[in-house]
Amino acid sequence: AAIVEHALHVGNLSVQRLGQSQVITAVNGQFPGPKIEARDGDTVVVHVVNLSPYNLSIHWHGILQRLSSWADGPNMVSQCPIRPAGGTYTYRFNVTGQEGTLWWHAHVSFLRATVYGALIIRPAAPRGRYPFPRPHGEATIILGEWWNTSVVDVERQALLTGAGPNNSVALTINGLIGAGGGGCGAAAAAENTNAAAAHQYQLTVEPGRKYLLRIINAALNYQLFFKVANHSFTVVAADACYTDPYHTDVIVIAPGQTVDALMRADAHPGRRYYMAAQVYQSLANATYSATTTALLTYLQDASDSHSRQDEQPTLMPTMPAFNDSATAQSFYASLTGLLQDGAPTVPLHVDTRMLVTFGLGIMPCAPAQTLCNRTLGSVAASMNNVSFQFPTTMSLLEAHMRGAPDGVYTRDFPDRPPVMFDFTSDATTANRSLMFTSKGTKVKTLRYNETVEVVLQNTAILGAENHPVHLHGFNFFSLAQGTGNFNAHRHVRAYNLVNPQQRNTVAVPAGGWAVIRFTADNPGVWIMHCHLDAHLPFGLAMAFEVDDGPTPDAVLPPPPPDYPRC
Ligand code: C2O
Repeated sequence: AAIVEHALHVGNLSVQRLGQSQVITAVNGQFPGPKIEARDGDTVVVHVVNLSPYNLSIHWHGILQRLSSWADGPNMVSQCPIRPAGGTYTYRFNVTGQEGTLWWHAHVSFLRATVYGALIIRPAAPRGRYPFPRPHGEATIILGEWWNTSVVDVERQALLTGAGPNNSVALTINGLIGAGGGGCGAAAAAENTNAAAAHQYQLTVEPGRKYLLRIINAALNYQLFFKVANHSFTVVAADACYTDPYHTDVIVIAPGQTVDALMRADAHPGRRYYMAAQVYQSLANATYSATTTALLTYLQDASDSHSRQDEQPTLMPTMPAFNDSATAQSFYASLTGLLQDGAPTVPLHVDTRMLVTFGLGIMPCAPAQTLCNRTLGSVAASMNNVSFQFPTTMSLLEAHMRGAPDGVYTRDFPDRPPVMFDFTSDATTANRSLMFTSKGTKVKTLRYNETVEVVLQNTAILGAENHPVHLHGFNFFSLAQGTGNFNAHRHVRAYNLVNPQQRNTVAVPAGGWAVIRFTADNPGVWIMHCHLDAHLPFGLAMAFEVDDGPTPDAVLPPPPPDYPRC
């Protein structure tokens, strides 16, 4: 095992997109930020220097952080922010039993819009083998969004007015906006055509070879479809957990999720194809859609003067309709976990069962609240009707480590919603009562090693959206999912207890449900939240507090000396 060391300098970067110059917060002068590569078993050490004018923290999305909760990163949950204009913190963690594609991103306000990068974990040396034929090459494909204005202003606007106006102006692939990416008419299209060569991501492949695409959805607001014209994929991993090989020509990926897919480059030399990412929305009345493209370019065959690139038109993939929920559901339901020696298996005994209903709701403005619409109130998302309030004086983890939660959090996060109701109807009184949420910083305390099953029920009372729910500190088994009301008697029969897919982020369908199960074998404090970014400040979150275990190897060590406190 090696030590992988990086320095991330976070600061202003001026970039050109869609014909405008824009100052963004970026890392090491790059957008997207640098790729971090390690092997399973390595120790990763990242020195973060915050030269930006904003509070900052970085999260290593999907890293289990075994016995290193203080390196997890969510602001005011696992740490206080790294202060602007020169604050530093060194994140140090071990990679323990993980392989595949993960990523890192800022975990404070909207900064992750531009502060993100790939985190690739390869199998441990010396064998270093994948459970699939070794590809000839690989490419990281990070899907994101672009705004023509500062994301700090975008966030203020979102908090004022609800989810709508934070629509980005374009989707990005590896930070670039390709043809079709503007989404706002002729000007953008013309600009895109002219600038395509300079501004579009291009993946160059050799005919006859096989490539591993490491696809990451870093978008703030959208679940996405991804396709490559005339090519299909074999999915081999999701969220850095191996899958049974699954053949498909469309990838469905929610914010926070990753997909590793093999693609055979089986077209002729010199040919070009578009790859495209497109918004998938289940909002019943959604009007916004966007697509962006990148190029897949085959190397020329020097001996064949007929295969000239400019002879053939570049084919665009046929994308699903932007509200094609059937395609999204069948993709997720088709993924199963690869059973391997030494891989964790699903716990069959459950100690704690929870039903967590969640969605958007409304709260009246507090007297002193400035970012609030006085007439409508403010959007307040919640889990079991508790709108998660981030603490202000001390992070949850620091309070947990002091053994004194008083004043910072309480241990009464409910195992069930306050009232049972029909999740598929918005007409009942019970439903309406669930729209008006209360605020709180409530955690669910778990004994070390207890097994937990959580039924996640998307209420879709206000805004029929699919919400990607992300759990820090653990991979969970994704046992089943469906639309409508979860029904314990009926749906328990649909649980996959043999080879369920493991993930860290599950896309819960609009007005639908998902069942996850995990073992609380990692002491610390771990947030579970919606990965649509605006929903985090709205309060669509809760946290698990996991006690230390009985043996020294199950005790959270003290934090490093430079751990940011408030
Ligand atoms: Cu990718 Cu809590 O985040």
